[in-house]
Amino acid sequence: MRLAVVGAGGYVGLATAVGMATLGHEVAGVDLDAQKVRELSLGRVPMTEPGVTGLLAEALAAGNLSFTTDPTAAVDGADFVFLAVGTPAGADGTPDLSQVMGAAKAAAAVATPGAVFVVKSTVPPAAYGDLADLLGDGFGLVAFPEFLREGKIVEDFFRPFRLVVGGEEAAMAAVLGLLSEVLEGRHPLSTGEPVTVVKTDIPTAALVKYAANSYLATRVSYANEVLRVAGAIGADPKTVFTALGLDPRIGSRYLRAGIGFGGPCLPKDIAGLQDVAAGAGCATPVLAGAEAGNLEQRRWVLAQVGELAGGLQGKRVLVLGITFKPDTSDTRDSVALAVATDLAAAGMEVVAYDPSVPAHEWPIGLQRTESPTAEKVDASALLVGDAGLLAKGLPEAPLFDPWQIRG
Ligand SMILES: NC(=O)c1ccc[n+]([C@@H]2O[C@H](COP(=O)([O-])OP(=O)(O)OC[C@H]3O[C@@H](n4cnc5c(N)ncnc54)[C@H](O)[C@@H]3O)[C@@H](O)[C@H]2O)c1
Repeated sequence: MRLAVVGAGGYVGLATAVGMATLGHEVAGVDLDAQKVRELSLGRVPMTEPGVTGLLAEALAAGNLSFTTDPTAAVDGADFVFLAVGTPAGADGTPDLSQVMGAAKAAAAVATPGAVFVVKSTVPPAAYGDLADLLGDGFGLVAFPEFLREGKIVEDFFRPFRLVVGGEEAAMAAVLGLLSEVLEGRHPLSTGEPVTVVKTDIPTAALVKYAANSYLATRVSYANEVLRVAGAIGADPKTVFTALGLDPRIGSRYLRAGIGFGGPCLPKDIAGLQDVAAGAGCATPVLAGAEAGNLEQRRWVLAQVGELAGGLQGKRVLVLGITFKPDTSDTRDSVALAVATDLAAAGMEVVAYDPSVPAHEWPIGLQRTESPTAEKVDASALLVGDAGLLAKGLPEAPLFDPWQIRG
């Protein structure tokens, strides 16, 4: 099958393009970012993503994967048009759908009649109505929300926990047909087990995505709330979470206290779900509480640093790790960065270490060091994030338990 992947230079687009090409489809990836297109065409992956480089090289060598900045070249003649562009939060916190609508409009103008548009981007249910109006009757439309985790995009393409797809039966079946090797567990990179597929209508599929991310965010805020209570009463948080996780109704995964949830998905999706709910007249006190808890955790981190470092004003702090989580170079909406900003605003001199973030993506105004040791940068406080855990020469007694401060 011939596929166009719009937004192929991003995490979701690249996973889709490389994954589908590895399955033998003819894939043309299109991205507005000429630099990313150049890099990818040369076999270079523009972000930290384990496992992608090898598959990219194989697909480029096999000749069934290409990248372009020209939507016509990619979309004309394609049987499927995957939309994987960004949907960041707009200024008012609601999702900015301009990339999706712009990409869909450009693709629809040159797509072959009968092509199926597959939406991987996270968009609110109502956006599908706008997309259907824009596309008219000549094309199929399927919601195929993405659940991949950054740092694990290859694993999650070939071994998804489950797939959720929404739309007309024939169009859904056609899209799932592209993935039959994965669905039946037959691909060498798969588990060998069939994958559960939830087939539903478009609004339901869109809501599953928002509900999943909002739940994960809520769980993080819950864990952080328990951490704060444990600290206040002298209980041991590690033991509390270990014991909680042993209850199969609760489970241990994603129940870790830290500095709060961040990144390019959870904050905007929990805001997006609240916006959907408000539009439908539904109150969402749990979601609002999870967001409030996230801000409270940032205040708590500041207070902890102040207590441990004997005040903030004029002190120097070394932040080890500024990405939003392990195994990624992505700093979008990173809480580590937000905390660094808070500490600087409170009068600390902040120095940060993170070898995974390339110089051209380093946040403006944040002092960078290549040394992960507090002694070398003369810091009186140390925030140990994921880069810190990996760093050689970690001091013996960090002020924070790395387990607690992991973001
Ligand atoms: N990053 C994740 O972990 C993740 C996981 C699941 C779902 N999602 C969702 O998937 C979507 C994409 O996220 P991402 O993190 O991959 O985004 P990203 O910002 O990494 O990538 C988006 C890409 O789209 C390109 N682009 C924008 N407009 C374009 C256009 N008109 N034509 C061609 N290219 C265009 C950009 O240049 C960029 O390379 C979002 O809706 C996000 O919420 C992301």
